[in-house]
Amino acid sequence: MKIFIAILSLFYSLTLFADYKSGKKIFKQKCSSCHLPRISGEILKKNFYEKNNTMLNLGAPTVNMLAFFLVRGPEHIGDTNDPEMQKLEVADFMKDYLYKPNRKNSIIENKFLKFFITKKSMKGIVSEKEIDNIADFLVEYKKRRVVSVEKSMLKHMSTKELIETAKKKNKIIIVEAMSKTCYYCKKMDKEVFSLPIVKNAIFKNFIYIKVDIDKTKLPLGLDKRYKHMTPTFFTLSPDGKFKNMYPGAWTKDDFLLILKENLKK
Ligand code: HEC
Repeated sequence: MKIFIAILSLFYSLTLFADYKSGKKIFKQKCSSCHLPRISGEILKKNFYEKNNTMLNLGAPTVNMLAFFLVRGPEHIGDTNDPEMQKLEVADFMKDYLYKPNRKNSIIENKFLKFFITKKSMKGIVSEKEIDNIADFLVEYKKRRVVSVEKSMLKHMSTKELIETAKKKNKIIIVEAMSKTCYYCKKMDKEVFSLPIVKNAIFKNFIYIKVDIDKTKLPLGLDKRYKHMTPTFFTLSPDGKFKNMYPGAWTKDDFLLILKENLKK
């Protein structure tokens, strides 16, 4: 019994270490020569439904097709509502399929499968451990992609657009008054805002607006309150009403507390 539990916990710690990032890297090295990077659904539909694959001439599914068929398609593997369990199930399926490809077990709909070349066994080319990581990558593919696209979209919006977005999405606004020459702003960028935990906390619940006060006035009437110290952080309700002001630089923990405090109703 003890050995069984020990093996079980070893198994779990191994799967915990498997992760999205290394899966992404291995996929790029060992799979992307055939499984091309993402092509949008619109274009894929046109290629397969209207042009019989003569537009793109795909010999294998693209990475987003793989992620779709494995995770959510009509013959998908495992439980869509339990991502952790689904990773294990997808990994098991792939170990089987990659070492012994057999179209009878394919999760790809035949109307697509018929266009593809025959898959060869990857025994000795990709290890089981690597397949665990790839499973993490493919199961999380959609979620992560949406987040990163949305993040980069927000980054490129004007202040006005960001304020409108906050209202629409009912998110608290944070305005940072900063300048290019401000030492503590850069220090916070490097030591606080670069951390995934901070980035994600901001992205989930806030709309973040950086204002270079050497170039622009502060929006939403904040100019009146500003005491000419960089950085200063202001928080506002989604409809632009002032909530709080925090002059100065903050550590990761303090900044996370500030975020938390502003989520309270
Ligand atoms: C030499 C080209 C090639 C390489 C390299 C390749 N694949 Fe494939 N793969 C294919 C083709 C072609 C298909 C679809 C035809 C099939 O399933 O027989 C496919 C299908 C699949 C499928 C769907 C299986 C199904 O149900 O039909 C998965 C999952 C997959 N590949 C994962 C991988 C992973 C992970 C890697 C890298 C470790 C990889 N492939 C490397 C060509 C390749």
